[in-house]
Amino acid sequence: MAADLRGGAADGTVTRVAPPLDAPLLRACRRQPRARVPVWFMRQAGRSLPEYRALRGEGSILDAIRVPDLAAEITLQPVRRYGVDAAILYSDIVTPVAAIGFGVDVAPGVGPVVDRPFACRADLQRLRPLDPDTDTPYVVETVRTVAGELGATPLIGFAGAPFTVASYLVEGRPSRTYARTKALMYGDPGLWAALLDRLADIAVASLRSQVGAGASVVQLFDSWAGALDPADYERFVLPASAKVFAGVADLGVPRIHFGVSTGELLGLMHRAGADVVGVDWRVHLDDARRRLGPDVALQGNLDPAVVLAPWEVVADRVRAVLARNAGHPGHVFNLGHGVLPETDPAVLGRIVELVHAEGRADGEVAA
Ligand code: CP3
Repeated sequence: MAADLRGGAADGTVTRVAPPLDAPLLRACRRQPRARVPVWFMRQAGRSLPEYRALRGEGSILDAIRVPDLAAEITLQPVRRYGVDAAILYSDIVTPVAAIGFGVDVAPGVGPVVDRPFACRADLQRLRPLDPDTDTPYVVETVRTVAGELGATPLIGFAGAPFTVASYLVEGRPSRTYARTKALMYGDPGLWAALLDRLADIAVASLRSQVGAGASVVQLFDSWAGALDPADYERFVLPASAKVFAGVADLGVPRIHFGVSTGELLGLMHRAGADVVGVDWRVHLDDARRRLGPDVALQGNLDPAVVLAPWEVVADRVRAVLARNAGHPGHVFNLGHGVLPETDPAVLGRIVELVHAEGRADGEVAA
């Protein structure tokens, strides 16, 4: 089903049109009965979409992000194709630190890579505060353009959480063990705390600028927080992530907190200040809800690899996620992590249709 996309005015200007408060995503984030189960996909922009690859061209994703018309178009592509209930800004978690000149790029097929990894106290000087209007004006403009075009569909703004961004800055490239990151964390807790505190301030500034320009939900991506045990998470990570959530609390937009392999951390991630906690496929939604109690909505949690299976299997697993949620209004359907590059876009479209069809019935039960 095509999404309701309003175009800008003929003179090229766009007016911000706030999505209605009854948008299914906004209601689900607030755990209010909704017309249907909202669904969107992490990493829905890019990767598996042929229209993305056609537009994107060569070069770093960080260059594409600096062209607002291009970034806005890429943000809107999955909304048009899938009829998802939200757009997510086409950007990256390292956009702000790249913009303040830390020396980070995103290598195709690899992820963020850093010229001179963060290693000592002097490196804090390379992480000055972010001024979104001058450092990332292209992000602000992209958000404004997209919000103007989307009409009734909410735009999700996002930032990388301090731990996950720090892991790239310290390791210098994607890591499996986070050995250097943990060495810094355990070896120099004072410097570690100062690093995370700066990254928290940068995330707050970025998120505030996105909400100011028209994002109506924010998600904090702490993708790799699952590398830590609960005690270390609580001591070394939670204070900085809590600072990010507190720093946007007055804006009144729902706040989603996401990580992978975070089954043991879900309660702490909620405590950090989230209204919605992301759950990956390793924890069933009914178990997650038991762990978290009634005061939080859940997002998830289809295994992204399941999407590559035959359709009957996909459909069964989608229904299983909905069944585990058991009609609870506080559920945002998503994958447990991002769309895999080899995903067939047609299957994602069918998943949206199925969630909307079956989730509608279950919304009626819950209402
Ligand atoms: O659709 C969306 O979700 C919005 C856009 C988005 C991107 N990155 C675009 C992107 C979002 C929300 C991100 C966040 C992000 N970036 C995360 C958190 C989400 C997650 O998956 O856990 C992380 C860890 C990164 C860092 C990063 N950027 C990685 C690991 C990669 C993959 C490298 C690859 O090529 O496989 C990237 C690159 C990237 N970011 C791509 C896209 C569309 C693909 C490469 C490209 O088009 O150049």
